[in-house]
Amino acid sequence: MTDDTHNTMFGNGDELPSNRSANPHIQDLVSLGRRKVLAGGAAFGALAFLGGIPAIAGAAEPTGTGSGLPFQRGTRLPFGAVSVTRADTVTVPSGYSAKTFIPWGTPICGSYPAYLEDASNTAEQQAQQTGMHHDGMHFFPMDAKFKGRKSDHGLLALNHEYINAPLLHRNGPSVVNSKRVDADEVRKEINAHGVSIVEIRRSARGEWAVLPTARNRRITGATPMRIEGPARGHELMKTRYSPSGTSTRGTLNNCANGYTPWGTYLTCEENWAGYFASRDTDLPRHLQRYGLRSTSRYGWETIQGDEFQRFDATASAEDPRADYRNEPNTFGWIVEIDPFDPDSTPVKHTALGRFAHEGLVFAPAKPGWPVVCYSGDDSQNEYIYKYVSRDRYRPLRSDSRLLDEGTLYVARFNPDGSGDWLPLDVEDAGFQQACAAANVEFADQGDVMINTRLAADVVGATKMDRPEWGAVHPDTGEVYFTLTNNSAREDAEAANPRAPNRYGHIIRWREAGRNHIGTQFQWDLYLLAGPQSDSRDPRGGPLNEDNILASPDGLWFDNDGRLWIQTDMSGSQLSTGPFGNNQMLVSDPRTGETKRFLVGPKGAEVTGITATPDFRTLFVNIQHPGEGSTSTDYTSVWPDGPGRRPRSATVIISRDDGGRVL
Ligand code: FEO
Ligand code: CA
Ligand code: CA
Ligand code: CA
Repeated sequence: MTDDTHNTMFGNGDELPSNRSANPHIQDLVSLGRRKVLAGGAAFGALAFLGGIPAIAGAAEPTGTGSGLPFQRGTRLPFGAVSVTRADTVTVPSGYSAKTFIPWGTPICGSYPAYLEDASNTAEQQAQQTGMHHDGMHFFPMDAKFKGRKSDHGLLALNHEYINAPLLHRNGPSVVNSKRVDADEVRKEINAHGVSIVEIRRSARGEWAVLPTARNRRITGATPMRIEGPARGHELMKTRYSPSGTSTRGTLNNCANGYTPWGTYLTCEENWAGYFASRDTDLPRHLQRYGLRSTSRYGWETIQGDEFQRFDATASAEDPRADYRNEPNTFGWIVEIDPFDPDSTPVKHTALGRFAHEGLVFAPAKPGWPVVCYSGDDSQNEYIYKYVSRDRYRPLRSDSRLLDEGTLYVARFNPDGSGDWLPLDVEDAGFQQACAAANVEFADQGDVMINTRLAADVVGATKMDRPEWGAVHPDTGEVYFTLTNNSAREDAEAANPRAPNRYGHIIRWREAGRNHIGTQFQWDLYLLAGPQSDSRDPRGGPLNEDNILASPDGLWFDNDGRLWIQTDMSGSQLSTGPFGNNQMLVSDPRTGETKRFLVGPKGAEVTGITATPDFRTLFVNIQHPGEGSTSTDYTSVWPDGPGRRPRSATVIISRDDGGRVL
């Protein structure tokens, strides 16, 4: 997303910071200046503590093998690094190919309406085609429900995070006096959001195709959803649409994703606050702390009709059940979708908290133990959370209900490399004490979850540099999180050691006793992104031409424990920095070796990653190529070529010899 377009109508910016809590940055507790931290303070001392990088690893060179190969013998990254480039294409290492798949507008269900290149498809047609702005994604093997590992047939579930309205409509959006005037246009925008479920099959020749089956489905910004967990039926969830506070319509700004041990898809509501407007002068805390404003990003609330008026959160009636003041409280959640049941109603799980959920990642589920998952709140100076279910995981018996009863914790990263998980539980004595000290009251656990950010402020969580994706190492259980950047950071501290943080970093932690349900952990910094002159690779040296990056965002472990990192640079960093277009790298935590694997087309973010179990196919999403394009002026023409609108799309990456990707 572009920083330059905050607040303007149709701008696609991230939300502005709304954490004005007195909640201290760590440096207020200890005087630990930037130089000291970078010179080897607690943060980097802890690297040795985690022991992820053997001492001999530092000797390995990324190139110059003498064998004629563009990589070191014995490396787990046996490919030649892709150079920084601003080419308007997807570049992968030699020996690999990248093919475009299901770009925006691909017909997947209903009457399979063809994509019209002048963008004149109707709202109804858009609801039968893939949406815009592909993001988080997961491949479900067709036999996933029974722990199967089928690799040539499955369901691809993918998010459509937001839209570029100038490209979505033939001549861009119609606006008169700052008001929307065309209901079908607005409906098309709502329908271009959400999730696509697509049944796909790989032929013997390795070619993937969409199968026209009844499993294919579009979930949009208007699809009915059920609300579960502590906020179900809460006073603050009651609306004209759902006077009982138990349902809502649609999911929006679905960024990263997750998947459960029982074979369902999770989509995460990130920058949803900008879809709503409230003209009330004194906003209640559950709107104020999430940055609601008097105007919305797309102006959906400016057109008549209940389906649009719900985006107007102004208190206009006597009773909250007669207006939409509470509609924004039905967003900001983790949404579960059963991809195998096209008739199922998606569920918003309120026990997982309400914030700008980037994604959700599970620790490996162990039979007989609670399930544990992690989620970041991607806004400047927000927090990282962990959920531990009350009930235990039972393979083939557990389901969605594990996400409705449990404890939500928020992270405090101490400057000495230790960390604490602080419960946000209305019945916890420590939480009650913190609330009393801060003079903050919560009526019940539903109130705590609707006001998750405030609850985290109260217990003294650590303000982070925009937490994005998380990934859990399949063998060590260590949890890695990207912190993409933070231009609003004024004071450096151990876990966020640069102020401002222009380039971002990756933090990781190990739960005490390697037990994910505990409340203590040890953390360190895996890498500091940036140019050669201001970065640190996992071995302790600066990054080099094969791996400089900025604004890390997407993060994923393959089954062999290699960490895949995707970037989301924007603005001047993207247009004039030394990093070229957005990219994807692979890093081996065993050795620290890190190499660029892919570079995306112009103006695109590289985000979303999943693979078939046999690892012969890697799926990656390219979001908003040619960001900033209008209906007549394209800054990228990927993937369709000259004269044609740029489109977000999935790319399918495979080895030319048909073998495993790595
Ligand atoms: Fe949608 Fe935080 O990226
Ligand atoms: Ca994005
Ligand atoms: Ca993201
Ligand atoms: Ca991002």
